[in-house]
Amino acid sequence: MKVLLTGGPTREYLDPVRYITNRSSGKMAKALIGVLLKRKHKVTAVLGPCGVKCPKSVKTVNVETARQMKNSVMKEAEHADAVIMCAAVADYTPVKVSAVKIKKSDDILRVRMKRTPDILFCLGRKYGKKKVIAGFAAETDKIEENALRKLRDKKCDMIVANKVGEKGAGFDSSMMNAALFFREGGKNHFGKISKNRLGYIIVREIERLRQTKNK
Ligand code: CTP
Repeated sequence: MKVLLTGGPTREYLDPVRYITNRSSGKMAKALIGVLLKRKHKVTAVLGPCGVKCPKSVKTVNVETARQMKNSVMKEAEHADAVIMCAAVADYTPVKVSAVKIKKSDDILRVRMKRTPDILFCLGRKYGKKKVIAGFAAETDKIEENALRKLRDKKCDMIVANKVGEKGAGFDSSMMNAALFFREGGKNHFGKISKNRLGYIIVREIERLRQTKNK
């Protein structure tokens, strides 16, 4: 398969020296890239700033903002059989980006923010019938309810729910407290699992989903 994968966070600039971002180490994306290559898939990675170094065989596109990520993903997705949205995309971006450094003045600084494009939603709407689309859901609570809502609203085939705030798993860790939910029905709770092992399970599921879409 040709697989497009995103990873890392996005940065939404306030001025030339400050940005708003999400927590994301890129470790899950790195694990997925490793498994995809081992299983002989052709990989394109659109990465936010996370320091993940891809092997030469991976077409790598480095981006910063959610808008840039959307433009690259929608372009690269045309050639893909499957897309994995692993990136922690910022949901809001400042309405105005100051061209010069904002100087401190009042005690309180108010920043007006506007929604960023929902890339997974756009992918689901455009390619949901033809390509395998997998998303992630970072949740602190109501894991299943939120994951199922994202699965339905964003029209994807699979959601990997990531329970954040657990000791010994999650951000910066090699482990994740994870569960998979499928559009066709069915779920699989893993509890704490290594990101490498989870990457293998996700890729095997995507291979299976590709077979059923091809029929
Ligand atoms: N996502 C996206 N574009 C965005 C925000 C999120 O493509 N602007 C994708 C993520 O890459 C992930 C999925 O949507 O695959 C769910 O992301 P998450 O942050 O868990 O949820 P949100 O949709 O942002 O919803 P909320 O923050 O309200 O939980």
